[in-house]
Amino acid sequence: MRPKCLSPEPELGSIGASDGLASLRDPWVVHALDEVDSTSTFASKLPAWNAVRSNTQTAGRGRTGRQWVSDRGGLWISAVLPCELREPFWQFLPLAVGWSLASALSDLGVRHLRVRWPNDLMVGRKKLGGILAERFHTHTAVVGIGMNVFNTPEHGHSELTGATARLVELLPRKLSLDELVPIVLAAFRRAHGTLRDHGFMTIASDLNERWTEPRLVELTLAGQERTVTGRFAGISQTGALRLLTQPSVIRTFAATQVALLRELDQTSHD
Ligand code: BTN
Repeated sequence: MRPKCLSPEPELGSIGASDGLASLRDPWVVHALDEVDSTSTFASKLPAWNAVRSNTQTAGRGRTGRQWVSDRGGLWISAVLPCELREPFWQFLPLAVGWSLASALSDLGVRHLRVRWPNDLMVGRKKLGGILAERFHTHTAVVGIGMNVFNTPEHGHSELTGATARLVELLPRKLSLDELVPIVLAAFRRAHGTLRDHGFMTIASDLNERWTEPRLVELTLAGQERTVTGRFAGISQTGALRLLTQPSVIRTFAATQVALLRELDQTSHD
């Protein structure tokens, strides 16, 4: 599937928030804040190729309306990307941005990174970051990334104990939040460009190849108590999860149908 994208990137030499790590053709205008309710809400009022970063968020949100803990020391950033309303372009953005960011971080030496459907950046079983794509206007989407870097989100949130990873412990050399911003923005841009020029299939194939273990997952369906357990059988060309629920039965689930994905221990079910 080749999604359609309306606006091309700005011309060479236009507005730019360039620094040492960004190229001269960097199209981004970056708004740096100390505190905001949500960088994505702030970004919703801005045009394409604007990005908002904040040291902390008082009402950071995750997928399905969950609270996103946004303490100081983490990277909380949202970017406005051009996209066409009629096409499902924006629905692919969480996986596409996860894919490009995982690749950028791997290049920096972070090991054991993987993208977990539909929007998580994982290191082993721990969540390093999450990605949220929202559409507030016809021709743009806002994509927000929350990544734990120096922060300790489990402080005051004991339910997160043992569940989160921090980038500072994974990078071979320390990078400041300021140095990480252009890397993340370049990943947004690469995801957007790949979707626009090549469609989602290249990204899906790559993600499928890299999704090794764990393959056994339990889904809690949106608006239901019900769970479905099955083996990961790939991400479809529409970005849906394919799950082997019984021998030779594959069911597909769109991200909007799934409230929660839990990874199960392979051994306890084999
Ligand atoms: C998830 O895993 O559920 C997605 C989390 C996305 C959090 C980021 S932090 C920056 C941006 N602003 C928000 O309010 N949410 C996203």
